[in-house]
Formats: sequence, C-alpha cells, structure tokens
Amino acid sequence: MSTQVFGWSKTEAEDSAAVREFASDVRNGLAKSQKELHSKYLYDELGSSLFESITHLPEYGLTRADERLLQRHARDIASLLPSRVAIIELGSGVGQKTRHLLQAIGNPLRYYPIDVSADALARCERDLADVAEVHPLVQSYLDGMARATAERQPDESFLVMFLGSTIGNFERKCALEFLRDLRRALLPGDMLLIGADLVKDRDRMLVAYDDPTGVTGAFNLNLLGRINRELGADFRLRDFEHQARWNEDQRRIEMHLRSRVDQTVRIAEADLTVNFRADETIWTESSHKFQLSELDALAEQTGFRVEDQWVDRDWPFAENLWAVS
Ligand SMILES: C[S@@+](CC[C@H](N)C(=O)[O-])C[C@H]1O[C@@H](n2cnc3c(N)ncnc32)[C@H](O)[C@@H]1O
Repeated sequence: MSTQVFGWSKTEAEDSAAVREFASDVRNGLAKSQKELHSKYLYDELGSSLFESITHLPEYGLTRADERLLQRHARDIASLLPSRVAIIELGSGVGQKTRHLLQAIGNPLRYYPIDVSADALARCERDLADVAEVHPLVQSYLDGMARATAERQPDESFLVMFLGSTIGNFERKCALEFLRDLRRALLPGDMLLIGADLVKDRDRMLVAYDDPTGVTGAFNLNLLGRINRELGADFRLRDFEHQARWNEDQRRIEMHLRSRVDQTVRIAEADLTVNFRADETIWTESSHKFQLSELDALAEQTGFRVEDQWVDRDWPFAENLWAVS
C-alpha cells in the first residue's frame, strides 16, 4: 500500500521508518536537561495549515515584508540570474511568495520545492502549476538538494531560494555549517536568494510569536497533539501553555511549551514515560534575528559572494542574493 500525494508517493516501509525516526528524536529530545523537540515536527498537515494562518496575522509582519520585497524586486532579481536557470526552494511551504519571481523569470521553468510537509507541497504544486513545471520533493533540505541537483541539464544553473528567514531556525553555528553544505551541493554560476528577518523592537518581535488570537499557541501545542496521534502518547494539551521568549544574548525568539502542573506522560511508540515538573518547558523552536552587518560576513564565511540586497523598512527584513564564489 502507498500514500499518494500528487506527484509523490510514500511506501509503507518509508512511513514506518519515518515513525521510528520521529520516536527516536522525541526520546532523545525529551531526555535532555532542557527538554526539546525539533521544530521540523511542527509541520504535519494541521501544523502546516496553522503556519499558513500565522502568515496572515496582523502581528506577524515577516511574511508580508518578504513578499513585498519579492513582488517589488522580482524583475531586478530575475535580471541578475543566469540565462538558463532552474529553481530549487528549501522549505517552500505552499510557495505563495515564490510566484512573483517565477512569473518574472518566465516559462518554461523547472521548479523543485523541497519540504518535509507533503500537504504544503501538494498545495504548492497545485497553486504554481500555471507558472512553472513543479517537481515537489518531500524530503529534508539537503536530501532534496541532492535529488534536485542530480537533474541539472547541460549549461544550466540553479537558483536556490530559502525564504521566510527559515535560516533563523538554525543555531548560528549550525546555520554556518548548513550554508557550507549547501554551497558544496552547488556549482559556480549557481545563486542563493535568502531572506533574513532583522532585529527590531523587542515587543514587536515577541507579539509576532505570541499573538493574542492564539494561533501561534495552537501551532506550538499541535506538536504535542501530533505526538499523541502518531506516537500513541497521552499528552493533555490543556496542561501545557505556549510561551515566546526573547533571548537577548543569542538574538532569538524561543518558543516553549510550559507544563502548568507536575505530570507524567506516556509515549507508547517511543517506549518512554516522561515526568514534567510544574513550570518546566519543552523548547520547540528558535527564530534567530540578524543584523544587516552580519549578513555579508555570513555569505563570505560560507563560500558565497553578495550580489545584491533589498531591505523592507516597514518590517525590517533583508532579501539577499548571493552567488557561488
Ligand atoms: C518557517 S516555514 C516557511 C515556509 C515558507 N518558506 C515561507 O517563507 O512562508 C518553514 C518551512 O520549512 C519546512 N521545513 C522545516 N524543517 C525542514 C527540513 N528539515 N527539511 C525540509 N523542510 C523543512 C516546514 O515544513 C515549513 O514549510
């Protein structure tokens, strides 16, 4: 039996390997003294659709800033690209913002959106089919990169897009390592378009991750719901609450789930019983914020050369076009 999601299907064996990996990551993450869960698990079907709702919140200006820049500068960006180009997008989600650039580049164009969320990719494929030939890859970033770049055609270059400041989800040291790995998967002539959310007023950043409507809270709590559904756990979601914190030293927003009470949770598929003290938290996501000045250095340290940069002033955010150096 297989699960069919548009151009992509997953076998039963792959399904159970994914469950085993999820169980093992949960076991390891909850064994740490600061309990943690990897942020990629926030994006199951419900999580991806809650994230999509977050992008519409008045408090979450990040996506609108990113989209304004792409819309305003799509032609400038397209004019700086090699003449024969195919597009890869890391963590594309539904790919809504990418439409502006795909349209400016024009057809025929191969587009490889890579995402761990099959549901977001299914929508991406459906919504962007009129502007590109879409080849969705339900994989993690670098595995997807290997698959997409294996399809490079003679004299063709790749533009890799990494939007939404998703690079901010990596610890700073891991971001450097990740960008170096990405560079190794590319060739001279290839380019990277990378969005980075800039440090701004603390309260503005905090409310973007702790909206009064409670959508970000639901997005965060859904991770426990997902563990209940997929790993047979008995988390009582009402006994946890969403928290967003600004970590000044690391210049990042951290999302946590705080246990309201002393409690014990059983996670059957991970063969794990875990105790929580009241006020103890599970750290679920980091969103590092950047200074404009550090972005050029980041390019240089990871094997790229800065080609251009566009900055949104209403919601400080930088779109950066880097070339493989
Ligand atoms: C912050 S969202 C950004 C979505 C979209 N690019 C945007 O700018 O609105 C991060 C996206 O990356 C995907 N993602 C997270 N970790 C991933 C990983 N390790 N490999 C592939 N995709 C991942 C998520 O499913 C989600 O769609």
